[in-house]
Amino acid sequence: MRQVHVVDHPLVQHKLTLMRETERSTQGFRRLLNEIGMLLAYEVTRDLPLEEHEIQTPVAPMRAPKLAGKKLVFAPILRAGMGFVDGMLELVPSARIAHIGLYRDPKTLQAVEYYFKAPPDVAERLVIVLDPMLATANSAVAAVDRLKERGCRELRLVCLLAAPEGVERFHGVHPEVPIWTAAIDERLDSHGYIVPGLGDAGDRMFGTR
Ligand code: PRP
Ligand code: URA
Repeated sequence: MRQVHVVDHPLVQHKLTLMRETERSTQGFRRLLNEIGMLLAYEVTRDLPLEEHEIQTPVAPMRAPKLAGKKLVFAPILRAGMGFVDGMLELVPSARIAHIGLYRDPKTLQAVEYYFKAPPDVAERLVIVLDPMLATANSAVAAVDRLKERGCRELRLVCLLAAPEGVERFHGVHPEVPIWTAAIDERLDSHGYIVPGLGDAGDRMFGTR
């Protein structure tokens, strides 16, 4: 219960620092998020179950492990969660994708849903929710609420940056959903932005500000 994995791999930390820098270009920001996505996919899948298969190498038969069970689902929260998807699919090319469209109302900071599309058998699969920013956690809580309504029981959350307030709130509502993040920053500001953070992830990724 209430597991938080801070991924302190030097490559992740280095790339995260580059992303925080104000002068990083849209192209650079997007490429780095993609690369970190690949590295976080490696961490979040570290304990996936394996099963033995009979195979034939060019030299001899052997029993060797392959991933067990149904293909997992990556569930990006739009828009910024999309930044992780290509990198993660490099490592897990057969994963399914569930798109969860949410935006934060700038005044109330509440999550507003505008789109949801998941594989029909999503409830039978491990679902990894993706969102670079865990700020108030309203978006991540709403995404997991929605997936639970669809019957999902095996869920994980991957983010890039978290605020302590967001971790507390997320685990207050979904204590059994483990979190993987590259860093837990100091705090939220009065507008619900992570400090020191990296600004608005969606805008920086898509060049919309
Ligand atoms: C950002 C971010 C998260 C959310 C985090 O999305 O990508 O989804 O805010 O904040 P929270 O933890 O306080 O909910 P935003 O609403 O700006 O939408 P966008 O990705 O489409 O820009
Ligand atoms: N969403 C962002 O993109 N950045 C923040 O700091 C908080 C929410």
